[in-house]
Amino acid sequence: MQIFLDTADYKEIKDRYETGLVSGITTNPTLVRKSGVSYHEFITRLSKDFDFVSISAEVNGNNADDMLQNAQQYIAIGEEVTIKLPLTKEGLIACKILTEQGVKTNVTLCFSAAQAAMAALAGATYISPFVGRCNDNSFSGVELVRAISGLYGVQRCQTKILAASLRDVHHVSRCFLYGASVVTLPTKVFDKMYDHVLTDAGLAIFEEDFKQLKE
Ligand code: E4P
Repeated sequence: MQIFLDTADYKEIKDRYETGLVSGITTNPTLVRKSGVSYHEFITRLSKDFDFVSISAEVNGNNADDMLQNAQQYIAIGEEVTIKLPLTKEGLIACKILTEQGVKTNVTLCFSAAQAAMAALAGATYISPFVGRCNDNSFSGVELVRAISGLYGVQRCQTKILAASLRDVHHVSRCFLYGASVVTLPTKVFDKMYDHVLTDAGLAIFEEDFKQLKE
């Protein structure tokens, strides 16, 4: 069971890294555009400053050759750098080639168990079902995670389920329960994983009682 952060904000990552509970990072072009950094420089900085098992960098390209060419700049950074590819025919072709070269891959934008089966056949290290975007489109993202987990279990697939597009803590615990090995979270969801109103209320009482204890 691992938690990755889904962000391209360096400070957000640094603050949470201190907990020792963050194992990796996922990024995408939208997150990087919002943070206004250079994609390559950002991945390089993360690789240099932190000890993550995986840092996903998404590649750009209309066909497998372009994706593979775009991936080279990230592969050169370090072996934890994980090439994020779209779940398309071309993305799967590129995934298979990278897998054969020993490069870690994350096949993204997964919305069906059939797609997840194809990613496993392409040797993907991670498959990223987009839980929140399933829910946005009136079907259950956590049920998708459960279906993929069942399929991968029966077929003994090595590909790990990396549940993505998570927007609340309830979905996080359901994803782990249904077989996700990894969840990737925006920092506001990560923070809510340990915050609880009843913990705060209980702590306030205990702190008051500590003050009243006899010396
Ligand atoms: C995961 O790899 C994606 O970057 C991300 O989780 C997408 O989340 P969103 O649907 O909230 O944009």
